[in-house]
Amino acid sequence: MEENLFEQMAKRYDTAERQELAKIVVKEVKPEIQHSRSKTLIDYGSGTGLVGLALSDLVESILLVDSSQQMLEVAQAKISRNDITNAKVLYTDFTQESPTLQADIVLVSFVLLHVPDTKKIVQELYNALTDGGKLIIIDFEKNDKVNHPKVHNGFVHEELKQLLTEVGFIHIEIRNFYSGNNIFVNEDATMFISTGIK
Ligand SMILES: C[S@@+](CC[C@H](N)C(=O)[O-])C[C@H]1O[C@@H](n2cnc3c(N)ncnc32)[C@H](O)[C@@H]1O
Repeated sequence: MEENLFEQMAKRYDTAERQELAKIVVKEVKPEIQHSRSKTLIDYGSGTGLVGLALSDLVESILLVDSSQQMLEVAQAKISRNDITNAKVLYTDFTQESPTLQADIVLVSFVLLHVPDTKKIVQELYNALTDGGKLIIIDFEKNDKVNHPKVHNGFVHEELKQLLTEVGFIHIEIRNFYSGNNIFVNEDATMFISTGIK
């Protein structure tokens, strides 16, 4: 698996700013997974679990999946420390190995921007969902001021909707929910939530 930037930053990832943003994301995601106590959730690209672990009470079980071993070590330490009995971690990359597991809900928060082939990852996330399952994407709106060799500079709602439709998702909804200063590669940015059903 290709070494990524996150391996080096895992232990200092949970800054006050990232914790604040995670709280805003959690508040937005919660209504999307109400009535899900009997459902399973994959938090794909979970990182240190800032978002996923705050949702563990709302689902039957949660699997934090990431391609960075170090990020998962931080997440696992939180799981152990807080005695979260329905959460596990899994080190893998669905763009390299197709998932053999499935869940009722897949959450992907600030990860699509880091994956070069958006269609490939969305296809694999579709495969990781049970029939009728829900994909929840949190990411940034396209921002032409952002220019970084390793990240997409956000997404255009209509283009993402088109891609999700091509992959097979239905009932797709995308809406902005927060704008902040210096939150996307030091630029002001707007965050959106996208939901779709398999
Ligand atoms: C910006 S962090 C977001 C962490 C978390 N989802 C959150 O919202 O706080 C991006 C995470 O995605 C992971 N990631 C990047 N590319 C990935 C891939 N192809 N497969 C799995 N995880 C990936 C990184 O290792 C990192 O932990």
